[in-house]
Amino acid sequence: MLNHLNRSFAVYIFSYLLVSAVHGQQQRAPSAHTLRDRFRDDFMIGTAVNARQVQERIPMETQLLATQFNAITPENVMKAQSLQPRWNSFNFEQADQLIEFSKKYHMNVNAHTLIWHSQLPRFVRSLQTADSLKLFMSNHINTVAGRYYGKVQSWDVVNEALNEDGTLRKSVFYDKLGENYIIEAFRLAQAATPGTDLYYNDYNNEKPAKRAGCIEIIKKIQAAGVKIDGVGIQGHWHLGQLPIKDIEESILQYAALGLKVAITELDIEVLKRNFQGAEISQRMNSDPSLDPYKESLPDSIQQRLAEDYDALFKLFVKHKDKIARVTFWGVHDGQSWLNGWPVAGRTNYPLLFDRQYRPKPAFYKVIDSE
Ligand code: XIL
Repeated sequence: MLNHLNRSFAVYIFSYLLVSAVHGQQQRAPSAHTLRDRFRDDFMIGTAVNARQVQERIPMETQLLATQFNAITPENVMKAQSLQPRWNSFNFEQADQLIEFSKKYHMNVNAHTLIWHSQLPRFVRSLQTADSLKLFMSNHINTVAGRYYGKVQSWDVVNEALNEDGTLRKSVFYDKLGENYIIEAFRLAQAATPGTDLYYNDYNNEKPAKRAGCIEIIKKIQAAGVKIDGVGIQGHWHLGQLPIKDIEESILQYAALGLKVAITELDIEVLKRNFQGAEISQRMNSDPSLDPYKESLPDSIQQRLAEDYDALFKLFVKHKDKIARVTFWGVHDGQSWLNGWPVAGRTNYPLLFDRQYRPKPAFYKVIDSE
């Protein structure tokens, strides 16, 4: 009797699975299950990785990383502060580990970043003369870009050289070397790592005034006969405020200059703050009202996040012939820098995977979109 019941139950389950499988197939064509497969013919799908992830401490996280993405960007370990903490004293350990990780999982490396005013070693700011700063630049670029020649697919050569109004930021490089430091950086990178894609990278450079400044930089590099292959739009955007028109216009205008476009640091922030952009020295005091979703993200916000990501990826696919890569600034919400910036200690939800490494509704929206 019991046996008979068991058998009927098994048959019932089997038929149910069969019927739902057939039914499911009729409903819609089988779709990709990973971002890298879904966009294989369109653009690379990247993520920023930190040192801990490269060391494969959490198997589930490694699994997610290796199956979903085909490109990685070092979140911190290839910044000048990490690589050259003291004058002409280099520390390559973690950056080398990242290269090994990329080989093991067959991923491209999009290296970040050679010349940037933030996360600079302290000694650079105390250099007194233009000549010593020039020497730092050439030594740093030759050593770092030279070491990873043939191992990285692209470099962000200069990061965030612009103010919001499109004028050049008065960084330590600008102050001592004048505006030509940007052309010089690209010239040095071209020589140190020929054949590698060289990018100018910034945030808010999809907005008209900053975009105009970015175009000026690109044209000056090109006019000097120096190689520049692409422009990175960081893509630190805010829920419900995607500048879709500006992004599209920027993709078109940058591509018209013969450049590839990459979205290099994508995240969509769901928490409030009183400024836009990603200048990392700009911060806000913490306040409980700025951290409303400590336990979980309400469904309504989850859905809006999915809609925003959907709109973005539809735009990227529309311009897939101009877009080389879309890189998220982190694998999952638990890793996001937006938990700590611009307000310390918040619980933010800007990415496609949650803190338990599970896909969020936004992931399914992006994967299933036509
Ligand atoms: C961020 C990292 O995610 C943080 O871990 C670090 O503390 C500060 O920098 N624009 C950039 C990135 O170009 O390098 C920054 O990354 C985020 C803003």
